[in-house]
Amino acid sequence: MTNKKEIQRRRTFAIISHPDAGKTTLTEKLLLFGGAIQVAGAVKSNKIKKTATSDWMEIERQRGISVATSVMGFEYSDIKINILDTPGHQDFQEDTFRTLTAADSVVVVIDVAKGVEPQTEKLVKVCRMRNIPIIVFINKLDRPGKDAFELLDEVEQKLHLTVTPLSWPINMGPGFKGVYNNFSKSLTLFTPGKQVVEDGIEINDIMNNEIDDYLGEDADKLREDIELVEGVYPKFEVNEYTEGKLSPVFFGSALNNFGVKELLDNFIQIAPPPIGRESDLREVEPEEEQFTGFVFKIHANMDPNHRDRIAFVRIVSGTFKRNTYYHHVRLNRKLKFSSPTAFMAQKKSIVDEMYPGDIVGLHDTGNFKIGDTLTEGTNLNFKGIPSFSPELFRYVENASPLKAKQLAKGIDQLMDEGVAQLFTGKHTGRKIIGTVGALQFEVIQYRLEHEYGAKCRFEHITLYKTVWFRSSNEAQLKDFQARKANQIALDKEGREVFLADSQFSLQMAQQKYSDIEFFFTSEF
Ligand code: G4P
Repeated sequence: MTNKKEIQRRRTFAIISHPDAGKTTLTEKLLLFGGAIQVAGAVKSNKIKKTATSDWMEIERQRGISVATSVMGFEYSDIKINILDTPGHQDFQEDTFRTLTAADSVVVVIDVAKGVEPQTEKLVKVCRMRNIPIIVFINKLDRPGKDAFELLDEVEQKLHLTVTPLSWPINMGPGFKGVYNNFSKSLTLFTPGKQVVEDGIEINDIMNNEIDDYLGEDADKLREDIELVEGVYPKFEVNEYTEGKLSPVFFGSALNNFGVKELLDNFIQIAPPPIGRESDLREVEPEEEQFTGFVFKIHANMDPNHRDRIAFVRIVSGTFKRNTYYHHVRLNRKLKFSSPTAFMAQKKSIVDEMYPGDIVGLHDTGNFKIGDTLTEGTNLNFKGIPSFSPELFRYVENASPLKAKQLAKGIDQLMDEGVAQLFTGKHTGRKIIGTVGALQFEVIQYRLEHEYGAKCRFEHITLYKTVWFRSSNEAQLKDFQARKANQIALDKEGREVFLADSQFSLQMAQQKYSDIEFFFTSEF
């Protein structure tokens, strides 16, 4: 139990939202509170604007920013907070899913006018699968938006969350007066354009006349709302939140720095410290003496002359120490790291020791791929970073015959980084690249050319999904493998997948081979 104090004071979380809801603005305000940055505007948005899909300079610039903002650590009230950044662009959703495996909780930002948007739905679904505790922040209250009760209904229905508001807005848009915090029984007043944070005014009883002095005719409406809130929503219980069963909701305006401190103060009180992770051997707890961790993100160096990369490792247990040999389980090799990097807001620094919940950046020359586990010797592998069946597929062909080696190496390394997935036809040997969004194909082509000097060409393939499968019925499995021989490929780990060319053909296979289980993810 040596690290207990360090573990208890850590909070590692991700902010997720549909693009434009205010994730970057909120992140920046949180960093300002932590003293990690001094001026607004210091955090660059890492979103790739829609117009930039074919603007390569822009993409390269964004990749540069995203290395700087991948993890932002800061201290606040003696709590070490690690914010994990997630890409805004939907074509990079897989990256976000993987980043979520390194987080212990999330804050979901929702635009009060737009309500629940598609990308928020997808991301929250992934959080729910893992029961990650979720706090909801409804943003942009300085603008006209949806009625608060209706919005919470929408959140419950679309995100399948049980919510309970801990703060409640008093009007919105031009008439926005502030929020009443139902948890701390205090009133915080909003002054447009004023960025200074005021402490809440304590109101012991909502019936208290004092409230009328501040809110005038809006006081009675607030009383009615609060009565309804208390009648409709469950009482907030911390353990229900940490078990992922109840989501507290806050209202505010990130741009106006309103409601952000309230969110942060509540967050550090209720958000869980680092929690354990499931491995193929057992659950690994943070307090365990021996170091363990897993790679959830790999970022290629921006300089094409140095093909080194940074592997981002989430520390699960023990203490990570510089210049110490660790066991790379997949490669069965000992590796030590002379310059492990910690990410404090915008600064990177070399550190000697790091604790569970922290993210350490390791310089890598090609030893790591996403999902790899490091330990002090135990042969365990962390679970929870599955590959999902991609949405879009293309054959990839060499367009420059003399550069076949470079192409193979480039594809290999880009796949290790998790840019896309590679499948190789078992009989044809043809290589298929699968992605979540169309943008990745352009990224792959561009990076192969600029970083590896290789050229590729994509060719059309009609493919609905790549489906992993297993069965204990050997005879049925053999029959399936024989009859579908031309539709079987190997994923990067050498596992077989069925290349279903349509939903119909998958259904037919499922009907015919009733003893075979089919999976849309590689972990089952
Ligand atoms: P994202 O990371 O979730 O994509 O969103 P981001 O923070 O970049 O915010 C998107 C837009 O919404 C920005 O305006 C930002 O200023 C604005 N915004 C964020 N919070 C609030 C808020 O509380 N109230 C209001 N009214 N606006 C808010 P933009 O014009 O797209 O960008 P910029 O030019 O201001 O950077």
